[in-house]
Amino acid sequence: MKIIITKEFKTHFGADPQFIVRAPGRVNLIGEHTDYNDGFVLPMAIDRAIWLALRLRKDRRVILHSLDFANPVDFSLDDIPHQGGWGEYVCGVTWALGEAGYPLSGWEGVMTSDIPIGAGLSSSAALEMAVAKAFSIVGSWPFSALKMARIGQQAENDWVGANTGIMDQMIIAAGQSDHALLIDCRDLSAREIPIPGGTAVVIMDTATRHSHTDSGYNERRAQCETAAAYFGVSHLRDVSLDEFNRRAPGMDDLSRRRSRHVISENGRVVQAAEAMSCGNAVEMGQLMNNSHVSMRDDFEITNDALNIMVELAQSQPGCFGARMTGGGFGGCTVALVRDETVGIFVENIHSRYQDKTSLQPKVFVSMATSGVEQIM
Ligand code: GLA
Repeated sequence: MKIIITKEFKTHFGADPQFIVRAPGRVNLIGEHTDYNDGFVLPMAIDRAIWLALRLRKDRRVILHSLDFANPVDFSLDDIPHQGGWGEYVCGVTWALGEAGYPLSGWEGVMTSDIPIGAGLSSSAALEMAVAKAFSIVGSWPFSALKMARIGQQAENDWVGANTGIMDQMIIAAGQSDHALLIDCRDLSAREIPIPGGTAVVIMDTATRHSHTDSGYNERRAQCETAAAYFGVSHLRDVSLDEFNRRAPGMDDLSRRRSRHVISENGRVVQAAEAMSCGNAVEMGQLMNNSHVSMRDDFEITNDALNIMVELAQSQPGCFGARMTGGGFGGCTVALVRDETVGIFVENIHSRYQDKTSLQPKVFVSMATSGVEQIM
């Protein structure tokens, strides 16, 4: 990737780039739709990433070519436009940085990515963090993972119009190699949790897609707020399972199921972090399986393709557990698989999923990598 973007940078700008940034995608091992409920998540940064080569400009223009999309992004820092498509994330981060008072300098660059788009692997948050990192480098100010994660979320919420939480930006800003992060989305404190020895994290793309601006994502978020109001709290994080069980009979069916997912999922994340810390892949897998059932039946964010893929994965020898990952309504599933069986696991999922759905899946193993970084 580094060689490709360096070459493309030269083609566009006639010189070598000054800097190269890598911003990974992420996969969430457990803890879905808990982040905006002030709860817990357990994601890791993956070895698929956006690579961005850039150099400082003397004026206040930002120009960015992508090898993956036709039209470049090109705007003045003094007049940031809404331009739709992938450029919205670039403009949104620029706008949020400006609002927060960061000094902004112009730059030009070329990027490419091997993170599948719209698959629940956070290609958009990776772009946000790559752009924030680029501004910090050309402006010579320090990149604070926590502050930049908040900038990315603000861009997404207030510029792009997707009411997403903070998980994706946090893990992409702060990820650690060989570890997942247990993030408390209330205070954004994070603890490194090792991936159990002898296991592999397998990501399986169903080849079905979502969009957070028009899917049920915002609707789920609103339903959680309604449920929190019923319990008299601002976030479902503050409702214990005991309290839920006591007061659930008074709720309507939809609110009951939505809140049961969030409250039980928070508990599973904390248990999962403990299980992984002890290298207990069996318990981790079981929690992943339970999480999927909760997302399928209570939160209702899976589709047929996700359910088929998860069932196929769970039935393979050497699979500790599997679940849908990300915002839902399409995209990817994730499984924890015994190292020695991973080759045959990948082959089987590939052929059997295709037989069942006539869709062409993508199945790959990923290490846990570090978050956004300056490579050069
Ligand atoms: C998307 C959002 C995250 C989070 C997940 C669901 O990835 O961007 O903030 O809510 O969905 O867990």
